[in-house]
Amino acid sequence: MLRFFKKKEMKTWESERLPRHIAIVMDGNGRWATKRALPRTAGHVAGAETFRRVATYCKDIGIEYLTVYAFSTENWKRSEDEVAKIMELLEKYLHESIEKMERDKVKMKFLGDISVLSQNLQDLIAKTEELSKKFDGVQVNICLNYGSRAEIVRAVQNYADSIKDTPDAPRLTEENFAKFLYTADIPDPDLVIRPSGEMRLSNFLLWQTAYSEYYFTDCLWPDFNENELDLAIATYQTRDRRYGNA
Ligand code: FPP
Repeated sequence: MLRFFKKKEMKTWESERLPRHIAIVMDGNGRWATKRALPRTAGHVAGAETFRRVATYCKDIGIEYLTVYAFSTENWKRSEDEVAKIMELLEKYLHESIEKMERDKVKMKFLGDISVLSQNLQDLIAKTEELSKKFDGVQVNICLNYGSRAEIVRAVQNYADSIKDTPDAPRLTEENFAKFLYTADIPDPDLVIRPSGEMRLSNFLLWQTAYSEYYFTDCLWPDFNENELDLAIATYQTRDRRYGNA
């Protein structure tokens, strides 16, 4: 499918105050396709292309972490065809990433319960994480079969298991609890972007986004591009982050 992007304009943000970590709900693929009388799956194909493009741009401008919501614990409710297409796109993406790893130097991690995915996909994920762990440019985290409530329940369970033979374990702190989340070792997102006009979090990083700045845009994810990201970052830079201070 041939798609055209607007030529890159002058950037509008200051490099001194870039968000370290950007998280994105890649929403609007289905509507993008329906508007063009295409099957919903064509929207995911276009969305996957946009993801690649945005990840490259994040790396180029010096964003340290990019986290995207690729497939939620609730997305299994979609048609078999649609789920299969998303899994196929992920496989394709992983094959390409492994092939181009030495050139792209992107560190990749997967957040979510991947144990229910096909063995092939699980093997590809393990290989990608292992091969890319040496890179320290942008880290791309792909949330796959991810749901924030399930993540928190899993963390509570793992914490309880970890202290069951330690009756005098110290009281749990926020910092220690966070180590049981999929995002242990990843700083909280500074900026959360949700395209497509929806203004909700949909079970995405509920714990981690307590102090994040939110940016909503009507742009559908397949139409999102470098200019849109520039605008989101510039808007983020106008915000006064007080973390509860006066
Ligand atoms: C939400 O749009 C999008 C998804 C549930 C799937 C996202 C998947 C991809 C972009 C492709 C694979 C990902 C990678 C990382 C290669 P929607 O379908 O809910 O759109 P709608 O709200 O317009 O129906």
